[in-house]
Amino acid sequence: MSGDDIKIQVWDPFIRFFHWLSVLGVLIAAGTGFLLSDSWLGFHVAVGCALAALLTARIFWGYVGSQYGLFSNFPLRRQEILHHLLDLMLLRPRHYLGHTPLGSVMVVSLMTVMAFVIVTGILAVSGEEKQGPLAGAIPYLVGHHAKLLHSLSTLALLALAALHVAGVLAESLLTRQNLPKAMIDGKKDAAFHIPYAARRSWGQAAKRLGQAAILGLATAFLALLLPAPPTAMLTPGYVRLCGSCHDPFHPSLLSRAAWQAIAGNLPVHFGKRLALSPDELGEIMGWLSAHAAETASTEPAFAIGSVSTPQTPRITATPFWKTKHQAIGDADFLAAGGSLRCSGCHADAASGAFADQAIESRPGLPRAQSAF
Ligand code: HEC
Ligand code: HEC
Repeated sequence: MSGDDIKIQVWDPFIRFFHWLSVLGVLIAAGTGFLLSDSWLGFHVAVGCALAALLTARIFWGYVGSQYGLFSNFPLRRQEILHHLLDLMLLRPRHYLGHTPLGSVMVVSLMTVMAFVIVTGILAVSGEEKQGPLAGAIPYLVGHHAKLLHSLSTLALLALAALHVAGVLAESLLTRQNLPKAMIDGKKDAAFHIPYAARRSWGQAAKRLGQAAILGLATAFLALLLPAPPTAMLTPGYVRLCGSCHDPFHPSLLSRAAWQAIAGNLPVHFGKRLALSPDELGEIMGWLSAHAAETASTEPAFAIGSVSTPQTPRITATPFWKTKHQAIGDADFLAAGGSLRCSGCHADAASGAFADQAIESRPGLPRAQSAF
């Protein structure tokens, strides 16, 4: 220690609150995302939204907050960074009251990657899971690819965080300061006080707020212009004619070619002869083909419908359906009314959505599946 007991407050309460709540939030979000089942999705998204709000607040604070947290006071000039790097390599301690140059690079990197994780998360939950206000605006494939980027960028965020901890420990040893403690009580030795210019800029903050508002409004407007999740509504005629022996399957669960193969075999239907008039059948099969998997943007349409074939026009023969249901025993299928009674377990089967949260929770079904 320096022997000088006078401490001054460097990190204001909001910066410390932001710092430790981000640590907690990122750990919880990564834990629920990587380690727990899909039924935690609702909780995971809520934590993600909280992190988004927290990060937004920190960015504004970077323009109008207290002096050591202002972005304009971050020592980010190339010369400062190179000097700091050199100092470290020569094990030469140099004190900074606020962020060090490399520390500033780290803070900016952490915030940027965190923002990327949040944006790709929003795209994934909207596009692939078809949930939330942007569900209609984000196509399935965009969400599907965003999900991969979401996982990869989270790994990058965790790696950066580990590097950050290593850096803080190294800097603490080198300068004989307890930097983690400073992020708890906010105080550092006044001996190293080099006054910073307090350049608060309400103008910059207003500009950023304006930009964010325009971006948000434009996205919301786009979301309103684009159609809602394109899942066709089952017609009463279809439900009556095709819903007596098994569920009236949502048309997006089979490809157009598969529906046409079923139509081509009629009146013989999977070994049974359907006692329906050709007119009625023709109309229904035409409606099914018109709303086949190719026209929908949901996960079941892509994972089940688009891989179904005219040779085996079955939902239950697709690899995705089989894997998702392999843990379910015969007794549970029987309790639901058979494996073709999708609505016995999926409250939203008629919409074609099959959201994780809409799966019935019953004692017999695997525990992970009982979602909120
Ligand atoms: C008289 C009863 C009956 C009616 C009415 C009926 N089906 Fe079926 N359907 C069956 C049987 C039986 C199977 C084969 C079930 C099995 O193999 O487990 C089947 C299977 C199917 C399958 C494949 C399910 C899968 O993934 O394994 C589809 C798709 C299907 N029917 C569509 C229709 C359509 C469309 C209609 C209306 C035109 C219809 N069904 C009306 C009896 C019926
Ligand atoms: C006995 C209950 C039961 C029946 C009947 C059933 N399912 Fe499921 N289904 C489940 C459970 C439980 C899961 C969750 C599996 C998991 O996440 O590991 C699931 C998962 C799914 C998923 C994936 C959801 C997601 O987002 O991960 C789809 C799609 C699906 N089912 C479609 C169907 C269709 C189509 C039918 C009818 C042909 C059907 N299911 C019949 C219980 C059932």
